[in-house]
Amino acid sequence: MQRTTHWWQEAVVYQVYPRSFADSNGDGIGDIKGIQSRVPHLAELGVDALWLSPHYVSPMLDAGYDVADYRDVDPIFGNLSDFQELINTLHSSGIKLLVDIVPNHTSWEHAWFKEALAHPPVNDPTVAPLTRYSEGPWARYHLLRGRKNGTIEPNEWPSVFGGLTWHEVPDAAGQPSGWWYLHIFDKSQPDLDWTNPEVRSEFLGHLKFWFDMGVDGFRIDVAHGLAKAEGYPDFTTPKPGDPTNHVAYWDQDPVHEIWREWREVAEQYDPPRVFVAEAWVGPAERNALYLRDDELHTGFNFPYLTAAWNGKALRRIIDDSLEGNHLVGAPTTWVLENHDVWRAATRYAPLATGEEAASLDGNLDISKSADWSVPRDLVIGVKRARAGIMTMLGLPGTAYIYQGQELGLEEVFDIPDAMRQDPAFANTGGENLGRDGCRVPLPWDNTSNTFGFNSGSESWLPQPSRWAEQTAAAQNDVASSTLNLVRSALKLRRSLAALGGITSDAVDLVWDETPSDIVSFVRPARLDGQAIRIVMNMGKTAYELPAGELLLSSDSDAVVAGSLAPHSAAWLKA
Ligand code: NOJ
Ligand code: CA
Repeated sequence: MQRTTHWWQEAVVYQVYPRSFADSNGDGIGDIKGIQSRVPHLAELGVDALWLSPHYVSPMLDAGYDVADYRDVDPIFGNLSDFQELINTLHSSGIKLLVDIVPNHTSWEHAWFKEALAHPPVNDPTVAPLTRYSEGPWARYHLLRGRKNGTIEPNEWPSVFGGLTWHEVPDAAGQPSGWWYLHIFDKSQPDLDWTNPEVRSEFLGHLKFWFDMGVDGFRIDVAHGLAKAEGYPDFTTPKPGDPTNHVAYWDQDPVHEIWREWREVAEQYDPPRVFVAEAWVGPAERNALYLRDDELHTGFNFPYLTAAWNGKALRRIIDDSLEGNHLVGAPTTWVLENHDVWRAATRYAPLATGEEAASLDGNLDISKSADWSVPRDLVIGVKRARAGIMTMLGLPGTAYIYQGQELGLEEVFDIPDAMRQDPAFANTGGENLGRDGCRVPLPWDNTSNTFGFNSGSESWLPQPSRWAEQTAAAQNDVASSTLNLVRSALKLRRSLAALGGITSDAVDLVWDETPSDIVSFVRPARLDGQAIRIVMNMGKTAYELPAGELLLSSDSDAVVAGSLAPHSAAWLKA
């Protein structure tokens, strides 16, 4: 069995959310020089690549997922030369760099959208509802005539951030024009029209700009959203678990042409550059279409990210993901946290009443679907998060770690309303708490009031005082800390041939026969002849482990007399 040929088939990728990672100049917002200063942390952790959430010029109304200039760095983060220096430092530490790209929409401060607003449409009562206005600069966006003589939105499409997806533009006299532009997300994020060749070629230029600077690849924001159903038809929102796609702006077939063009650009480089898709698409066979070998290299595994603490469900998701990707020969990815969902320690925590929390059913509206006000048992939550990351790192393919996950951080709820910045909070009148709770600046050490996030006393979101004991520096000195566990797991993963070596025809894993709340599988032997068994106990009673030398366990008391405690995981020689 041969080892993999491409780094992205089995990499460990660390996500940096720049405004919350490290702040070099004390303005309360993380920046590129801050990231630069913490590269040693990433090198010591042992990750292969860094994925950087948007660093582009932006009014930051959706934390940079609203881009005003795709070819420059936002001044709050630094400048192009800081960015080039970061690439060089990462590369000389053996770490690749993936950056985010946001092609579905621009910011309303993008030159294209400002140009469009400078060409106001005329309010003409004879125009039929849903008529498209594509004069001049409006051809790059979706501007449609509203219903009822233009007075209401063109259709009933719901926005991901609350309300409908339409916003009316004023006419030349500043009066309502009866014309509305499409925004699947916030109104400050107008959707681009990807049937327009100018839009397509402009983005190919953006890709080349960053590839030429040395970035190794892109994470593509909303990769399933760029094509809209013809005629803008209404639809019913899919029910959780319903695999049929009813949504007229998700997963429409023409989107694949775009990815084929992008792949051609990536292949022109040596070594070829890579893509990872943010595509919330089910079922696994539909998702696999994005990963055909002339499209995107990998895609995030959202069923895995949103699964509840349940052995049977998790095994099914692992099998589905592997089978789905095998259809197209693509490696699988695994992820337990990112900047859009609750941190694993909180998500996995049982309710204080002892009941298990519900799964998220693939729902991005996490704060709506999971009731944050119900107290949870975080001691168990953290144990499960530790077991969860170990299991994820034992699975075949690429694993993503979100900044702070290596510290076992929990979701933060005690943020004053006035400080919340996620548009989802304001747009739903606070019903959806939004995603700020997983975006709180990292605690590095106890050298300042912001736990070393900067040398000052303020950060853009407040950090809980209890984090004094969870800083990276504090955990560095405690052998059993989450930080040291993740470091050990990454080191071991690198040294064990069985945990790498993904090829499309290889046997990825062999399940053990176990009770339903045990997740237990063997990664077959490769170069060094050693097979590895990964076991996680998602049940309530201890589980007797099969024979085999214990290599790593998720807690110091996880394995006692050959039994694996609940909420724990172990790696053994098989
Ligand atoms: C997905 C990103 O992960 C999220 O943070 C953002 O708000 C939306 N796409 C819109 O760009
Ligand atoms: Ca700063």
